[in-house]
Amino acid sequence: MTTTIRDTHTTLEQFLSDWTRQAFLDIFGPLPAATKLGVTATATPEHGDYQCNQAMTLAKALQTRPRDIATRFVETAKTPPLIERLDVAGPGFINYHLDRRVMARTLGVRTIDGTVPLPDVGRDRTVILDYSGPNVAKPMHVGHIRSTVIGNALHRMYKALGYRVVADNHLGDWGTQFGILIMGYRHFLNPDALREQPIAELERLYVLSHAESRKNPDWLDQARAELVKLQAGDPNNTELWRNFVDLSRREFDRIYQRLNVTFDVVRGESYYRNRTADIVDQLIARGIARESEGAIVAFLDAEKLPPCIVRKRDGGMNYAASDLAAVADRVDEFHPERIVYVTDERQQLHFKQIAAICRRLELPVTLEHVWFGLMRLPGRTFSTREGNVIPLETLLDEAETRAMTMISSTDMAASEKRETARIIGIGAVKYADLSQNPRSLVTFTMDKALSLEGNSGPYLQYAHARIRSLLRKYHDQFPQTDYLQATPAANEASEKDLILRLSRFPETVVHAIDAYKPSALAEYLYELAGAYNALYQTVPFLKAPDGIRESRIRLCACVSDTLRKGLDLLGIEAPERM
Ligand code: ARG
Repeated sequence: MTTTIRDTHTTLEQFLSDWTRQAFLDIFGPLPAATKLGVTATATPEHGDYQCNQAMTLAKALQTRPRDIATRFVETAKTPPLIERLDVAGPGFINYHLDRRVMARTLGVRTIDGTVPLPDVGRDRTVILDYSGPNVAKPMHVGHIRSTVIGNALHRMYKALGYRVVADNHLGDWGTQFGILIMGYRHFLNPDALREQPIAELERLYVLSHAESRKNPDWLDQARAELVKLQAGDPNNTELWRNFVDLSRREFDRIYQRLNVTFDVVRGESYYRNRTADIVDQLIARGIARESEGAIVAFLDAEKLPPCIVRKRDGGMNYAASDLAAVADRVDEFHPERIVYVTDERQQLHFKQIAAICRRLELPVTLEHVWFGLMRLPGRTFSTREGNVIPLETLLDEAETRAMTMISSTDMAASEKRETARIIGIGAVKYADLSQNPRSLVTFTMDKALSLEGNSGPYLQYAHARIRSLLRKYHDQFPQTDYLQATPAANEASEKDLILRLSRFPETVVHAIDAYKPSALAEYLYELAGAYNALYQTVPFLKAPDGIRESRIRLCACVSDTLRKGLDLLGIEAPERM
Protein backbone atom coordinates (compact mmCIF):
# COMPACT_ATOMS: atom_id res chain seq x y z
CA MET A 1 0.00 0.00 0.00
CA THR A 2 1.29 3.46 -0.85
CA THR A 3 2.16 5.82 1.95
CA THR A 4 2.34 9.03 -0.01
CA ILE A 5 -0.21 10.96 -1.97
CA ARG A 6 2.12 11.72 -4.86
CA ASP A 7 0.04 9.36 -6.89
CA THR A 8 -2.16 11.66 -8.91
CA HIS A 9 -4.97 9.13 -9.10
CA THR A 10 -6.18 10.16 -5.74
CA THR A 11 -7.11 13.10 -3.54
CA LEU A 12 -6.02 13.69 0.03
CA GLU A 13 -9.45 12.72 1.26
CA GLN A 14 -9.49 9.57 -0.86
CA PHE A 15 -6.01 8.59 0.23
CA LEU A 16 -7.00 8.89 3.89
CA SER A 17 -10.24 7.03 3.28
CA ASP A 18 -8.43 4.17 1.55
CA TRP A 19 -5.89 3.98 4.33
CA THR A 20 -8.64 4.02 6.96
CA ARG A 21 -10.54 1.20 5.31
CA GLN A 22 -7.45 -0.98 5.12
CA ALA A 23 -6.45 -0.19 8.71
CA PHE A 24 -9.93 -1.07 9.97
CA LEU A 25 -9.80 -4.38 8.12
CA ASP A 26 -6.34 -5.12 9.50
CA ILE A 27 -7.41 -4.44 13.06
CA PHE A 28 -10.98 -5.69 13.19
CA GLY A 29 -11.04 -8.31 10.44
CA PRO A 30 -13.81 -8.66 7.86
CA LEU A 31 -16.57 -6.10 8.24
CA PRO A 32 -20.17 -6.09 7.00
CA ALA A 33 -20.12 -5.61 3.22
CA ALA A 34 -22.03 -2.36 3.21
CA THR A 35 -19.71 -0.63 5.67
CA LYS A 36 -18.60 2.68 4.27
CA LEU A 37 -15.25 3.50 5.76
CA GLY A 38 -13.97 6.92 5.06
CA VAL A 39 -13.05 10.34 6.30
CA THR A 40 -14.50 13.79 5.80
CA ALA A 41 -12.94 17.19 6.31
CA THR A 42 -13.65 18.57 9.78
CA ALA A 43 -15.63 21.74 10.26
CA THR A 44 -13.46 23.09 13.08
CA PRO A 45 -9.65 22.89 13.28
CA GLU A 46 -9.74 21.76 16.95
CA HIS A 47 -11.00 18.43 15.69
CA GLY A 48 -8.03 18.00 13.41
CA ASP A 49 -8.09 18.12 9.64
CA TYR A 50 -10.23 15.08 8.84
CA GLN A 51 -12.58 12.95 10.84
CA CYS A 52 -13.90 9.40 10.72
CA ASN A 53 -17.29 8.59 12.27
CA GLN A 54 -17.35 4.90 11.55
CA ALA A 55 -16.71 3.68 15.08
CA MET A 56 -20.33 4.68 15.69
CA THR A 57 -21.77 2.80 12.73
CA LEU A 58 -19.69 -0.32 13.45
CA ALA A 59 -20.60 -0.58 17.13
CA LYS A 60 -23.43 -3.00 16.49
CA ALA A 61 -21.55 -5.28 14.11
CA LEU A 62 -18.52 -5.44 16.39
CA GLN A 63 -20.59 -5.52 19.56
CA THR A 64 -18.26 -2.99 21.10
CA ARG A 65 -18.80 0.55 22.36
CA PRO A 66 -17.88 3.13 19.72
CA ARG A 67 -15.39 4.82 21.98
CA ASP A 68 -13.58 1.54 22.56
CA ILE A 69 -13.47 0.84 18.82
CA ALA A 70 -12.04 4.30 18.18
CA THR A 71 -9.50 3.94 20.99
CA ARG A 72 -8.33 0.56 19.78
CA PHE A 73 -8.02 1.92 16.24
CA VAL A 74 -6.02 4.95 17.35
CA GLU A 75 -3.72 2.84 19.53
CA THR A 76 -2.99 0.09 17.03
CA ALA A 77 -3.20 1.53 13.51
CA LYS A 78 0.19 1.98 11.88
CA THR A 79 -0.06 5.48 10.53
CA PRO A 80 1.73 6.69 7.41
CA PRO A 81 4.06 9.71 7.73
CA LEU A 82 1.26 11.94 6.46
CA ILE A 83 -0.73 11.36 9.65
CA GLU A 84 0.98 13.11 12.53
CA ARG A 85 -1.45 11.77 15.10
CA LEU A 86 -4.92 10.38 15.61
CA ASP A 87 -7.09 11.03 18.61
CA VAL A 88 -10.51 10.11 19.88
CA ALA A 89 -13.15 12.71 20.59
CA GLY A 90 -16.65 12.60 22.05
CA PRO A 91 -18.54 9.32 21.78
CA GLY A 92 -16.04 7.83 19.31
CA PHE A 93 -14.99 10.24 16.59
CA ILE A 94 -11.51 9.64 15.24
CA ASN A 95 -9.70 12.87 14.45
CA TYR A 96 -6.82 13.02 12.00
CA HIS A 97 -4.07 15.59 12.48
CA LEU A 98 -1.91 15.74 9.39
CA ASP A 99 1.77 16.52 9.18
CA ARG A 100 2.10 19.83 7.36
CA ARG A 101 5.70 19.18 6.34
CA VAL A 102 4.82 15.94 4.61
CA MET A 103 1.93 17.71 2.91
CA ALA A 104 4.22 20.56 1.88
CA ARG A 105 6.65 18.12 0.27
CA THR A 106 3.86 16.44 -1.66
CA LEU A 107 2.56 19.81 -2.75
CA GLY A 108 6.02 20.81 -3.92
CA VAL A 109 6.31 17.66 -5.98
CA ARG A 110 2.91 18.03 -7.55
CA THR A 111 2.53 21.73 -8.13
CA ILE A 112 5.34 22.87 -10.36
CA ASP A 113 5.25 25.96 -12.45
CA GLY A 114 1.67 25.95 -13.52
CA THR A 115 0.95 22.25 -13.37
CA VAL A 116 -1.64 21.37 -10.79
CA PRO A 117 -2.57 17.77 -11.46
CA LEU A 118 -6.05 16.50 -10.75
CA PRO A 119 -6.98 12.86 -10.18
CA ASP A 120 -8.44 11.11 -13.20
CA VAL A 121 -11.53 9.95 -11.32
CA GLY A 122 -13.43 10.08 -14.61
CA ARG A 123 -11.28 7.51 -16.36
CA ASP A 124 -13.44 5.23 -18.55
CA ARG A 125 -16.56 7.18 -17.66
CA THR A 126 -18.62 8.99 -20.26
CA VAL A 127 -20.87 11.94 -19.54
CA ILE A 128 -23.00 13.87 -22.00
CA LEU A 129 -23.34 17.49 -21.07
CA ASP A 130 -26.28 19.23 -22.69
CA TYR A 131 -25.92 22.96 -22.25
CA SER A 132 -26.68 26.37 -23.76
CA GLY A 133 -29.37 25.18 -26.22
CA PRO A 134 -30.66 28.50 -27.58
CA ASN A 135 -33.52 28.53 -30.05
CA VAL A 136 -33.10 29.32 -33.73
CA ALA A 137 -34.49 32.66 -34.89
CA LYS A 138 -34.74 33.88 -31.31
CA PRO A 139 -32.23 35.76 -29.22
CA MET A 140 -30.49 33.97 -26.37
CA HIS A 141 -32.24 34.82 -23.15
CA VAL A 142 -30.66 35.00 -19.72
CA GLY A 143 -31.45 31.32 -19.12
CA HIS A 144 -29.33 30.36 -22.12
CA ILE A 145 -26.54 32.63 -21.03
CA ARG A 146 -26.41 31.18 -17.53
CA SER A 147 -26.61 27.69 -19.00
CA THR A 148 -23.68 28.54 -21.25
CA VAL A 149 -21.49 29.86 -18.44
CA ILE A 150 -22.37 27.20 -15.84
CA GLY A 151 -22.38 24.37 -18.38
CA ASN A 152 -18.99 25.38 -19.69
CA ALA A 153 -17.50 25.36 -16.18
CA LEU A 154 -18.87 21.83 -15.68
CA HIS A 155 -17.48 20.89 -19.09
CA ARG A 156 -14.00 22.06 -18.10
CA MET A 157 -14.11 20.35 -14.72
CA TYR A 158 -15.23 17.04 -16.20
CA LYS A 159 -12.45 17.15 -18.75
CA ALA A 160 -9.84 18.04 -16.15
CA LEU A 161 -10.91 15.06 -14.04
CA GLY A 162 -10.35 12.71 -16.95
CA TYR A 163 -13.95 12.06 -17.92
CA ARG A 164 -14.86 11.42 -21.50
CA VAL A 165 -17.32 14.24 -21.90
CA VAL A 166 -19.42 14.99 -24.94
CA ALA A 167 -20.70 18.54 -24.75
CA ASP A 168 -23.76 18.91 -26.96
CA ASN A 169 -25.43 22.19 -27.76
CA HIS A 170 -29.03 21.06 -28.13
CA LEU A 171 -30.35 23.87 -30.31
CA GLY A 172 -34.06 24.48 -30.58
CA ASP A 173 -33.98 24.13 -34.36
CA TRP A 174 -37.10 22.11 -35.12
CA GLY A 175 -40.71 22.76 -34.24
CA THR A 176 -44.02 24.27 -35.11
CA GLN A 177 -42.66 27.83 -35.13
CA PHE A 178 -41.05 27.28 -38.52
CA GLY A 179 -44.37 27.29 -40.39
CA ILE A 180 -45.18 30.71 -38.96
CA LEU A 181 -41.65 31.92 -39.63
CA ILE A 182 -41.68 30.79 -43.27
CA MET A 183 -44.92 32.72 -43.81
CA GLY A 184 -43.37 35.79 -42.17
CA TYR A 185 -40.29 35.45 -44.32
CA ARG A 186 -42.29 35.19 -47.52
CA HIS A 187 -44.41 38.27 -46.77
CA PHE A 188 -42.57 40.73 -44.56
CA LEU A 189 -38.82 40.26 -45.12
CA ASN A 190 -36.51 43.24 -44.94
CA PRO A 191 -33.31 41.89 -46.57
CA ASP A 192 -31.08 44.67 -45.24
CA ALA A 193 -32.19 44.05 -41.68
CA LEU A 194 -31.63 40.33 -42.16
CA ARG A 195 -28.06 41.04 -43.17
CA GLU A 196 -27.35 43.41 -40.33
CA GLN A 197 -29.21 41.85 -37.44
CA PRO A 198 -30.39 38.44 -38.57
CA ILE A 199 -31.83 37.24 -35.30
CA ALA A 200 -33.66 40.47 -34.58
CA GLU A 201 -35.12 40.40 -38.09
CA LEU A 202 -36.16 36.75 -37.85
CA GLU A 203 -37.79 37.45 -34.54
CA ARG A 204 -39.63 40.42 -36.03
CA LEU A 205 -40.88 38.27 -38.89
CA TYR A 206 -42.07 35.64 -36.48
CA VAL A 207 -43.90 38.16 -34.30
CA LEU A 208 -45.65 39.75 -37.31
CA SER A 209 -46.63 36.41 -38.81
CA HIS A 210 -47.80 35.10 -35.47
CA ALA A 211 -50.03 38.17 -34.99
CA GLU A 212 -51.42 37.64 -38.49
CA SER A 213 -52.20 33.99 -37.79
CA ARG A 214 -54.25 35.04 -34.78
CA LYS A 215 -56.44 37.33 -36.87
CA ASN A 216 -56.62 35.28 -39.99
CA PRO A 217 -57.46 31.55 -40.01
CA ASP A 218 -56.33 31.22 -43.64
CA TRP A 219 -52.90 32.46 -42.64
CA LEU A 220 -52.72 29.88 -39.91
CA ASP A 221 -53.73 27.13 -42.33
CA GLN A 222 -51.05 28.20 -44.77
CA ALA A 223 -48.46 28.28 -42.00
CA ARG A 224 -49.44 24.72 -41.07
CA ALA A 225 -49.15 23.69 -44.69
CA GLU A 226 -45.65 25.19 -44.88
CA LEU A 227 -44.68 23.29 -41.76
CA VAL A 228 -45.99 20.02 -43.17
CA LYS A 229 -44.00 20.67 -46.35
CA LEU A 230 -40.86 21.34 -44.33
CA GLN A 231 -41.37 18.20 -42.29
CA ALA A 232 -41.87 16.21 -45.48
CA GLY A 233 -38.51 17.45 -46.79
CA ASP A 234 -39.72 20.00 -49.36
CA PRO A 235 -36.51 21.44 -50.86
CA ASN A 236 -37.56 25.11 -50.83
CA ASN A 237 -38.68 25.11 -47.25
CA THR A 238 -35.71 23.03 -46.20
CA GLU A 239 -33.40 25.59 -47.73
CA LEU A 240 -35.17 28.42 -45.94
CA TRP A 241 -34.96 26.54 -42.66
CA ARG A 242 -31.24 25.84 -43.21
CA ASN A 243 -30.75 29.50 -43.74
CA PHE A 244 -32.54 30.38 -40.50
CA VAL A 245 -30.37 27.90 -38.63
CA ASP A 246 -27.12 29.14 -40.21
CA LEU A 247 -27.87 32.80 -39.59
CA SER A 248 -28.75 32.10 -35.98
CA ARG A 249 -25.75 29.91 -35.39
CA ARG A 250 -23.44 32.57 -36.69
CA GLU A 251 -24.72 34.98 -34.06
CA PHE A 252 -24.60 32.40 -31.30
CA ASP A 253 -21.06 31.52 -32.30
CA ARG A 254 -19.99 35.12 -31.91
CA ILE A 255 -21.11 34.99 -28.29
CA TYR A 256 -19.51 31.60 -27.69
CA GLN A 257 -16.26 32.89 -29.07
CA ARG A 258 -16.36 35.91 -26.86
CA LEU A 259 -17.08 33.73 -23.83
CA ASN A 260 -14.47 31.18 -24.96
CA VAL A 261 -17.02 28.37 -24.97
CA THR A 262 -16.86 25.36 -27.26
CA PHE A 263 -18.93 22.23 -27.82
CA ASP A 264 -18.03 18.79 -29.04
CA VAL A 265 -21.19 18.46 -31.09
CA VAL A 266 -24.02 20.82 -32.01
CA ARG A 267 -26.94 18.65 -32.89
CA GLY A 268 -30.15 20.34 -32.07
CA GLU A 269 -33.61 18.86 -32.03
CA SER A 270 -33.66 18.44 -35.80
CA TYR A 271 -30.91 15.82 -35.61
CA TYR A 272 -33.32 13.45 -33.88
CA ARG A 273 -36.39 14.17 -35.98
CA ASN A 274 -36.38 10.82 -37.72
CA ARG A 275 -36.20 8.96 -34.47
CA THR A 276 -39.18 10.46 -32.66
CA ALA A 277 -41.84 8.32 -34.35
CA ASP A 278 -39.95 5.21 -33.34
CA ILE A 279 -39.67 6.20 -29.72
CA VAL A 280 -43.38 7.02 -29.53
CA ASP A 281 -44.18 3.61 -31.04
CA GLN A 282 -42.02 1.99 -28.41
CA LEU A 283 -43.78 3.88 -25.65
CA ILE A 284 -47.12 2.67 -26.94
CA ALA A 285 -45.96 -0.90 -27.46
CA ARG A 286 -44.60 -1.10 -23.94
CA GLY A 287 -47.72 0.40 -22.43
CA ILE A 288 -45.91 3.50 -21.21
CA ALA A 289 -47.99 5.87 -23.36
CA ARG A 290 -51.45 5.66 -24.89
CA GLU A 291 -53.88 7.67 -26.92
CA SER A 292 -55.89 10.26 -25.07
CA GLU A 293 -58.11 12.83 -26.77
CA GLY A 294 -56.21 12.32 -29.99
CA ALA A 295 -52.78 12.87 -28.47
CA ILE A 296 -50.29 10.25 -27.29
CA VAL A 297 -49.71 10.66 -23.58
CA ALA A 298 -47.49 9.00 -20.97
CA PHE A 299 -49.33 8.82 -17.67
CA LEU A 300 -46.90 9.07 -14.82
CA ASP A 301 -49.16 8.62 -11.80
CA ALA A 302 -46.78 6.13 -10.19
CA GLU A 303 -44.08 8.80 -10.19
CA LYS A 304 -46.62 11.36 -8.94
CA LEU A 305 -46.01 13.46 -12.03
CA PRO A 306 -48.56 15.02 -14.36
CA PRO A 307 -49.11 13.29 -17.73
CA CYS A 308 -46.59 14.01 -20.44
CA ILE A 309 -47.77 14.55 -24.02
CA VAL A 310 -45.32 12.95 -26.46
CA ARG A 311 -47.30 13.42 -29.64
CA LYS A 312 -49.73 16.21 -30.19
CA ARG A 313 -53.23 15.82 -31.47
CA ASP A 314 -52.20 17.04 -34.93
CA GLY A 315 -49.60 14.28 -35.09
CA GLY A 316 -46.68 16.68 -34.52
CA MET A 317 -43.82 15.60 -32.30
CA ASN A 318 -43.03 17.89 -29.45
CA TYR A 319 -40.16 18.84 -27.16
CA ALA A 320 -40.62 15.72 -25.02
CA ALA A 321 -40.51 13.32 -27.98
CA SER A 322 -37.42 15.03 -29.24
CA ASP A 323 -35.66 14.74 -25.88
CA LEU A 324 -36.62 11.07 -25.57
CA ALA A 325 -35.28 10.35 -29.04
CA ALA A 326 -32.12 12.22 -28.12
CA VAL A 327 -31.58 10.06 -25.01
CA ALA A 328 -32.02 6.86 -27.01
CA ASP A 329 -29.66 8.09 -29.69
CA ARG A 330 -26.99 9.20 -27.25
CA VAL A 331 -27.17 5.91 -25.39
CA ASP A 332 -26.65 4.01 -28.64
CA GLU A 333 -23.78 6.13 -29.86
CA PHE A 334 -21.85 7.07 -26.71
CA HIS A 335 -22.97 4.67 -23.93
CA PRO A 336 -22.82 7.46 -21.35
CA GLU A 337 -23.27 6.70 -17.68
CA ARG A 338 -25.16 9.96 -17.36
CA ILE A 339 -26.60 12.84 -19.30
CA VAL A 340 -26.45 16.19 -17.55
CA TYR A 341 -28.84 18.92 -18.70
CA VAL A 342 -28.21 22.52 -17.72
CA THR A 343 -31.22 24.82 -18.03
CA ASP A 344 -33.16 27.34 -16.02
CA GLU A 345 -35.62 26.32 -13.34
CA ARG A 346 -38.65 26.44 -15.62
CA GLN A 347 -37.82 23.06 -17.14
CA GLN A 348 -37.78 21.04 -13.92
CA LEU A 349 -41.05 19.26 -14.64
CA HIS A 350 -40.04 18.50 -18.22
CA PHE A 351 -36.84 16.75 -17.18
CA LYS A 352 -38.51 14.89 -14.33
CA GLN A 353 -40.96 13.51 -16.86
CA ILE A 354 -38.22 12.62 -19.33
CA ALA A 355 -36.24 10.87 -16.59
CA ALA A 356 -39.32 8.93 -15.44
CA ILE A 357 -40.10 7.78 -18.98
CA CYS A 358 -36.47 6.76 -19.59
CA ARG A 359 -36.53 4.70 -16.40
CA ARG A 360 -39.65 2.97 -17.63
CA LEU A 361 -37.93 2.34 -20.96
CA GLU A 362 -35.07 0.86 -18.94
CA LEU A 363 -32.51 2.90 -20.78
CA PRO A 364 -29.12 2.26 -19.14
CA VAL A 365 -28.33 5.87 -18.26
CA THR A 366 -28.93 8.32 -15.42
CA LEU A 367 -30.43 11.68 -16.30
CA GLU A 368 -29.47 14.65 -14.19
CA HIS A 369 -31.08 18.06 -14.46
CA VAL A 370 -28.92 20.90 -13.21
CA TRP A 371 -31.19 23.89 -12.94
CA PHE A 372 -30.63 27.43 -11.83
CA GLY A 373 -32.72 30.48 -11.06
CA LEU A 374 -32.92 33.36 -13.47
CA MET A 375 -30.70 36.36 -13.02
CA ARG A 376 -31.95 39.86 -12.47
CA LEU A 377 -30.39 43.09 -13.56
CA PRO A 378 -31.75 45.89 -11.38
CA GLY A 379 -33.10 48.76 -13.45
CA ARG A 380 -32.46 46.86 -16.67
CA THR A 381 -33.46 43.63 -18.23
CA PHE A 382 -31.61 40.90 -20.03
CA SER A 383 -34.52 40.28 -22.35
CA THR A 384 -36.12 42.87 -24.53
CA ARG A 385 -38.42 42.56 -27.48
CA GLU A 386 -35.66 43.57 -29.87
CA GLY A 387 -33.47 40.78 -28.63
CA ASN A 388 -31.46 40.05 -25.54
CA VAL A 389 -28.35 39.15 -27.48
CA ILE A 390 -27.61 42.85 -27.50
CA PRO A 391 -27.87 43.30 -23.75
CA LEU A 392 -25.39 40.49 -23.03
CA GLU A 393 -22.93 41.99 -25.46
CA THR A 394 -23.59 45.45 -24.08
CA LEU A 395 -22.97 44.07 -20.63
CA LEU A 396 -19.66 42.55 -21.70
CA ASP A 397 -18.68 45.78 -23.47
CA GLU A 398 -19.47 47.78 -20.38
CA ALA A 399 -17.51 45.41 -18.15
CA GLU A 400 -14.49 45.67 -20.45
CA THR A 401 -14.69 49.46 -20.58
CA ARG A 402 -14.82 49.69 -16.82
CA ALA A 403 -11.97 47.22 -16.47
CA MET A 404 -9.97 49.46 -18.80
CA THR A 405 -10.48 52.35 -16.38
CA MET A 406 -9.32 50.16 -13.51
CA ILE A 407 -5.97 49.51 -15.14
CA SER A 408 -5.54 52.85 -16.90
CA SER A 409 -2.78 54.03 -14.57
CA THR A 410 -0.58 50.94 -15.01
CA ASP A 411 2.43 51.08 -17.30
CA MET A 412 1.32 48.31 -19.65
CA ALA A 413 1.53 48.80 -23.40
CA ALA A 414 -1.77 49.71 -25.05
CA SER A 415 -2.26 46.24 -26.52
CA GLU A 416 -1.62 44.51 -23.20
CA LYS A 417 -4.06 46.90 -21.55
CA ARG A 418 -6.77 46.03 -24.03
CA GLU A 419 -6.17 42.32 -23.60
CA THR A 420 -6.11 42.60 -19.80
CA ALA A 421 -9.29 44.67 -19.76
CA ARG A 422 -10.97 42.03 -21.88
CA ILE A 423 -9.88 39.26 -19.52
CA ILE A 424 -11.01 41.19 -16.44
CA GLY A 425 -14.33 42.28 -17.94
CA ILE A 426 -15.40 38.88 -19.23
CA GLY A 427 -14.06 37.18 -16.11
CA ALA A 428 -16.05 39.53 -13.89
CA VAL A 429 -19.33 38.79 -15.65
CA LYS A 430 -18.75 35.04 -15.67
CA TYR A 431 -17.62 34.89 -12.06
CA ALA A 432 -20.63 36.92 -10.89
CA ASP A 433 -22.74 34.12 -12.33
CA LEU A 434 -20.63 31.16 -11.24
CA SER A 435 -19.97 32.23 -7.67
CA GLN A 436 -23.63 32.18 -6.70
CA ASN A 437 -25.50 29.18 -5.50
CA PRO A 438 -27.14 28.30 -8.82
CA ARG A 439 -30.54 27.77 -7.27
CA SER A 440 -30.84 31.16 -5.66
CA LEU A 441 -32.21 34.23 -7.36
CA VAL A 442 -29.17 36.12 -8.48
CA THR A 443 -29.04 39.85 -8.89
CA PHE A 444 -26.27 41.05 -11.12
CA THR A 445 -24.68 44.41 -10.42
CA MET A 446 -21.72 45.68 -12.36
CA ASP A 447 -20.19 47.33 -9.28
CA LYS A 448 -20.11 44.10 -7.35
CA ALA A 449 -18.93 42.07 -10.33
CA LEU A 450 -15.96 44.37 -10.89
CA SER A 451 -15.13 45.12 -7.27
CA LEU A 452 -11.58 44.40 -6.19
CA GLU A 453 -12.66 43.86 -2.61
CA GLY A 454 -15.49 41.37 -2.38
CA ASN A 455 -15.91 37.89 -3.76
CA SER A 456 -15.40 38.76 -7.41
CA GLY A 457 -13.50 37.57 -10.45
CA PRO A 458 -11.20 40.61 -10.50
CA TYR A 459 -10.40 40.07 -6.80
CA LEU A 460 -9.12 36.57 -7.56
CA GLN A 461 -7.36 37.69 -10.72
CA TYR A 462 -5.70 40.45 -8.73
CA ALA A 463 -4.50 38.03 -6.04
CA HIS A 464 -3.01 35.88 -8.80
CA ALA A 465 -1.40 38.85 -10.59
CA ARG A 466 0.13 40.13 -7.35
CA ILE A 467 1.83 36.79 -6.75
CA ARG A 468 3.06 36.68 -10.33
CA SER A 469 4.60 40.09 -9.85
CA LEU A 470 6.20 38.90 -6.59
CA LEU A 471 7.74 35.97 -8.48
CA ARG A 472 9.14 38.32 -11.12
CA LYS A 473 10.64 40.51 -8.41
CA TYR A 474 12.22 37.46 -6.83
CA HIS A 475 13.87 36.53 -10.13
CA ASP A 476 15.19 40.07 -10.51
CA GLN A 477 16.57 40.34 -6.98
CA PHE A 478 17.89 36.81 -6.59
CA PRO A 479 18.91 35.63 -10.03
CA GLN A 480 21.32 33.05 -8.55
CA THR A 481 18.79 31.01 -6.60
CA ASP A 482 15.69 29.16 -7.61
CA TYR A 483 12.67 28.98 -5.35
CA LEU A 484 11.40 25.98 -7.29
CA GLN A 485 14.07 23.87 -5.58
CA ALA A 486 12.61 24.71 -2.16
CA THR A 487 9.84 22.91 -0.32
CA PRO A 488 6.81 25.15 0.35
CA ALA A 489 6.99 26.73 3.81
CA ALA A 490 5.00 25.04 6.57
CA ASN A 491 6.07 26.72 9.81
CA GLU A 492 3.89 29.74 10.61
CA ALA A 493 0.19 29.26 11.32
CA SER A 494 -0.76 31.09 8.13
CA GLU A 495 1.60 28.87 6.13
CA LYS A 496 0.14 25.71 7.65
CA ASP A 497 -3.32 26.92 6.87
CA LEU A 498 -2.39 27.48 3.23
CA ILE A 499 -0.71 24.08 2.94
CA LEU A 500 -3.92 22.38 4.04
CA ARG A 501 -6.09 24.45 1.71
CA LEU A 502 -3.84 23.87 -1.29
CA SER A 503 -3.74 20.14 -0.58
CA ARG A 504 -7.53 20.12 -0.71
CA PHE A 505 -7.80 21.59 -4.19
CA PRO A 506 -8.20 18.25 -6.00
CA GLU A 507 -10.97 16.99 -3.73
CA THR A 508 -12.70 20.37 -3.97
CA VAL A 509 -12.95 19.96 -7.73
CA VAL A 510 -14.20 16.38 -7.34
CA HIS A 511 -16.87 17.46 -4.84
CA ALA A 512 -17.86 20.45 -6.98
CA ILE A 513 -18.47 18.29 -10.03
CA ASP A 514 -20.27 15.61 -8.02
CA ALA A 515 -22.63 18.30 -6.74
CA TYR A 516 -22.75 20.05 -10.16
CA LYS A 517 -21.70 23.22 -8.39
CA PRO A 518 -19.04 25.43 -9.90
CA SER A 519 -19.93 27.76 -7.02
CA ALA A 520 -18.22 25.35 -4.60
CA LEU A 521 -14.97 25.80 -6.52
CA ALA A 522 -15.48 29.57 -6.62
CA GLU A 523 -15.96 29.62 -2.87
CA TYR A 524 -12.78 27.61 -2.38
CA LEU A 525 -10.78 30.03 -4.54
CA TYR A 526 -12.15 33.01 -2.68
CA GLU A 527 -11.14 31.51 0.66
CA LEU A 528 -7.74 30.53 -0.73
CA ALA A 529 -7.12 34.12 -1.82
CA GLY A 530 -8.18 35.31 1.64
CA ALA A 531 -5.78 32.86 3.31
CA TYR A 532 -3.01 34.12 1.06
CA ASN A 533 -3.76 37.69 2.09
CA ALA A 534 -3.47 36.62 5.73
CA LEU A 535 0.00 35.21 5.01
CA TYR A 536 0.97 38.32 3.11
CA GLN A 537 0.06 40.47 6.07
CA THR A 538 1.91 38.42 8.68
CA VAL A 539 5.27 37.43 7.22
CA PRO A 540 7.92 39.05 4.98
CA PHE A 541 8.62 37.40 1.62
CA LEU A 542 11.51 38.98 -0.26
CA LYS A 543 13.00 40.35 2.97
CA ALA A 544 12.89 37.00 4.76
CA PRO A 545 16.23 35.28 5.55
CA ASP A 546 17.82 33.08 2.87
CA GLY A 547 16.15 29.70 2.63
CA ILE A 548 13.00 30.80 4.41
CA ARG A 549 12.52 33.28 1.63
CA GLU A 550 12.74 30.54 -1.01
CA SER A 551 10.27 28.28 0.74
CA ARG A 552 7.79 31.12 1.24
CA ILE A 553 8.05 32.20 -2.37
CA ARG A 554 7.59 28.56 -3.34
CA LEU A 555 4.40 28.47 -1.28
CA CYS A 556 3.18 31.66 -2.97
CA ALA A 557 3.83 30.07 -6.37
CA CYS A 558 1.66 27.10 -5.35
CA VAL A 559 -1.10 29.58 -4.51
CA SER A 560 -0.88 31.42 -7.83
CA ASP A 561 -0.76 28.15 -9.79
CA THR A 562 -3.82 26.87 -7.94
CA LEU A 563 -5.72 30.13 -8.40
CA ARG A 564 -4.92 30.08 -12.09
CA LYS A 565 -5.95 26.48 -12.53
CA GLY A 566 -9.14 26.98 -10.53
CA LEU A 567 -10.11 30.06 -12.53
CA ASP A 568 -9.36 28.18 -15.75
CA LEU A 569 -11.78 25.45 -14.67
CA LEU A 570 -14.40 28.16 -14.31
CA GLY A 571 -13.59 29.41 -17.80
CA ILE A 572 -11.86 32.52 -16.49
CA GLU A 573 -8.42 33.65 -17.56
CA ALA A 574 -5.85 35.10 -15.17
CA PRO A 575 -3.68 37.95 -16.46
CA GLU A 576 -0.01 38.18 -15.49
CA ARG A 577 -0.40 41.79 -14.40
CA MET A 578 -3.23 44.05 -13.39
N1 ARG B 1 -33.91 24.95 -26.41
C1 ARG B 1 -34.33 24.77 -25.04
C2 ARG B 1 -34.87 26.08 -24.49
O1 ARG B 1 -34.56 27.13 -24.96
C3 ARG B 1 -33.21 24.29 -24.15
C4 ARG B 1 -32.66 22.94 -24.52
C5 ARG B 1 -32.20 22.15 -23.33
N2 ARG B 1 -31.80 20.83 -23.66
C6 ARG B 1 -32.62 19.80 -23.91
N3 ARG B 1 -32.11 18.64 -24.25
N4 ARG B 1 -33.93 19.94 -23.81
O2 ARG B 1 -35.61 26.08 -23.53
